[in-house]
Amino acid sequence: MNKKYTIDSLLDRSIINTSIRIFDIAYKKGAKKIIFAMTPDTAHSTTLDFCEKAGNNVPLMWLLQHMLDYTDPILETTVMGIPFSNPFGISAGLDKNCQITKVADAAGYGFETVGSTTARPCDGNPRPWFHRLPEYESMMVHVGLANKGSERIMQEVEKAYTRSRQMKISVSLARTNDRFVGDDEEGIEDYMISLQRAADKSDLIEINISCPNTMVGERFVTPDMLDRLLTGLDRIQHKQPLMVKLPQDKEWDELKDLLDVICEHNVQGVTIANLRKDRSGLSIPSEWKGNLSGRPCETKANSLIEQTYREYGTRLAIAGVGGVSTAEQAYWKIRHGSSLVMLVSALMYQGPQVMTQIRQGVAELLRRDGFEHISDAVGVDVQ
Ligand SMILES: Cc1cc2nc3c(=O)[nH]c(=O)nc-3n(C[C@H](O)[C@H](O)[C@H](O)COP(=O)(O)O)c2cc1C
Repeated sequence: MNKKYTIDSLLDRSIINTSIRIFDIAYKKGAKKIIFAMTPDTAHSTTLDFCEKAGNNVPLMWLLQHMLDYTDPILETTVMGIPFSNPFGISAGLDKNCQITKVADAAGYGFETVGSTTARPCDGNPRPWFHRLPEYESMMVHVGLANKGSERIMQEVEKAYTRSRQMKISVSLARTNDRFVGDDEEGIEDYMISLQRAADKSDLIEINISCPNTMVGERFVTPDMLDRLLTGLDRIQHKQPLMVKLPQDKEWDELKDLLDVICEHNVQGVTIANLRKDRSGLSIPSEWKGNLSGRPCETKANSLIEQTYREYGTRLAIAGVGGVSTAEQAYWKIRHGSSLVMLVSALMYQGPQVMTQIRQGVAELLRRDGFEHISDAVGVDVQ
């Protein structure tokens, strides 16, 4: 039987369009006001707990699917050998403990990155972990990799991976940030333990070498150290493609040195990029600890995506992340080399329907520009 797509049915398209409007108003005039009245730390955990409970409500998930799951064959794509119903997903950090996969799957998200998770359970940094910067559609993030540890998280990830309707599951692995951290060998061992646990239990794996909020700092963002880490990870057998999540605060020459190392190892893609450290040009209270998400990440991430595609586009898939909240912004990342596009902050500022708006909007832009398929648009603007 042929698959039924939203784009082929006038009724389904009308339902989705009406639902987007309902969600948009309900989020901005209702839910967001309640969420933003809480401290960001409370809002984050409350929203995740709510989504976890909602995910177990089968009729609600059926409704959500019919309201927000815009499907369209023009968005289907295969990246690193993995078939995606669409290439738009949640970036690491929102769902560290794997609580919202059922909701995201029902709402038609193409993939979700769970984590970052670490070999040992980790309490993270002292609170507060978040500050809102609504004028920049940004969050200051200072979580420090709090999570329940990869042993537990991978049990949840495997369940999500096994039961998923259409969404692909990625898991982000990082180094434990606690007082037991040892030397660099211990750090490599930490990643290896989590990779061993993650082997064959998800669709994708992302190695996070660029968390800026830890007590030992980013130890693996120099070529030598990255080479040592990836040499260790090469020894672990797993079927999933591996991606490396790169820092954003690197000049192109420095990033290129890391990409050269990555190309020598069993790595199929890179995620560009992590949080922004540089606060210049932004008015942020100096006592706020952390690093920036959202709109302030966009320009630098875009420049690194474009340059990476130009020189490494035939060797590495790129997942572009940073400041995406509209279809036009997602489309820019695709046309400049991203095969996958992720976001976090827009979900908080715009609401869950933003991902449907992006899917629908990018499909329209692709048709306007005469593409038959989203993969045909990847990198077309890179000279
Ligand atoms: C609340 C929050 C927590 C985050 N935690 C992680 C994390 O654990 N691991 C990681 O690789 N990136 C983490 N990030 C960074 C995001 O994955 C993403 O790279 C960044 O926010 C830029 O995307 P955005 O502009 O769409 O928010 C976090 C971001 C936010 C907002």
